[in-house]
Amino acid sequence: MGRGTQSVHGGWEGDIYTGALEPPIYLSATYRFGDKPFAPRGRMLKYSREDNPTVYWLERHVARLEGGEDGLTFSSGMAAIAAVLMGFAGRGARVVMPREVYGVTRVLARELSYRLGFTLRLAGPPWEEFLEEAASADLVFAETITNPLLHTPPLDILVKVAGEAGALLVVDNTFATPILFRPLELGADLVIHSATKYLSGHNDVVAGVAAGPANYVNLLWGWRRILGSQPGAFEAYLVLRGLRTLHLRVRRHCENAKVVAEYLEDHPRVSRVYYPGLPSHPDHSTARRLLDGGYGGVVSFEVRGGGPEALRVLSRVRLIRPAPSLGVPSTLIIHPASSSHRDLPLSERLRLGISDGLLRLSVGLEDPEDIVEDLSQALSG
Ligand SMILES: Cc1ncc(COP(=O)(O)O)c(C=O)c1O
Repeated sequence: MGRGTQSVHGGWEGDIYTGALEPPIYLSATYRFGDKPFAPRGRMLKYSREDNPTVYWLERHVARLEGGEDGLTFSSGMAAIAAVLMGFAGRGARVVMPREVYGVTRVLARELSYRLGFTLRLAGPPWEEFLEEAASADLVFAETITNPLLHTPPLDILVKVAGEAGALLVVDNTFATPILFRPLELGADLVIHSATKYLSGHNDVVAGVAAGPANYVNLLWGWRRILGSQPGAFEAYLVLRGLRTLHLRVRRHCENAKVVAEYLEDHPRVSRVYYPGLPSHPDHSTARRLLDGGYGGVVSFEVRGGGPEALRVLSRVRLIRPAPSLGVPSTLIIHPASSSHRDLPLSERLRLGISDGLLRLSVGLEDPEDIVEDLSQALSG
């Protein structure tokens, strides 16, 4: 099946009770004991912290899209990452992540390393440094495309390095989505997402997902059950509804982002554009080798004049909204130095290459000429 067909149909085969074509939202917290024509992970449907039919159908859908044996969903992307670290990073383990990993993931890993007794190593980009650390790791955590400089690690090489080290390789595929890239098919052990972004796609739900072999997913299910970090049935339904159009939205995000990146690259007030689809990006050849059908919807750029000029652009946008998150219908803009990365020590932020003049766009689904026109007026004057 093609990725579009999988996005539309996923794991849903119709309601066994009524034949309803669209998945019902089961709000019941508890279920009567006894035989039911439904065998979820806990093998008996009894309590919605463990299993819920709407949540389960989302999990089938995610598993199919990512090419995993099984899938699991969470109340947020961070809840998925917490379950992975609690489930797989024990005392004495060596955990490796890139320096540019999502900031809250980095904070969570640091905090858990103290409490659970594992060692956390942050390395790269440059990716040679990351691969070197991965060669002696027990758990490697990577992101398909990083934020905000859109680096793409050589995941094909990383799979081999982690495999030789006997390390578990977990990939956060939030920025690429299974439409552009499927880490499990390449040999990663687990894939996770903030489903708050492209998977749900409408900026109306916070959720997380994981997919991989059934034994790993069962272990995560055990942690989710203890932590109580399952999504509600309504939230699961919203993600399911979003998934039905994922392939169409991701293509449009990618097309629009390419138009915006090319426009910005020629703009006299822009000194640098970061987009893996541009030959000028240091990871362009890796992105071209790994990603299929586009380079994602996020574009970052540095404006000439540094921080004051970047903040001026931020205050002048009209159609584009100054707001966090990504992968949603509207185009969003942030100034990482004063928002997502403000808590990083200045030396570390500059070492990563996140300057005061950097702006990050999550390019939305509008007509591309309208996004370009808004950027043009915001950059002028
Ligand atoms: C790459 C990445 N991973 C994980 C998360 C966390 O997801 P959530 O906000 O759904 O908890 C985010 C959130 O921005 C993210 O960008």
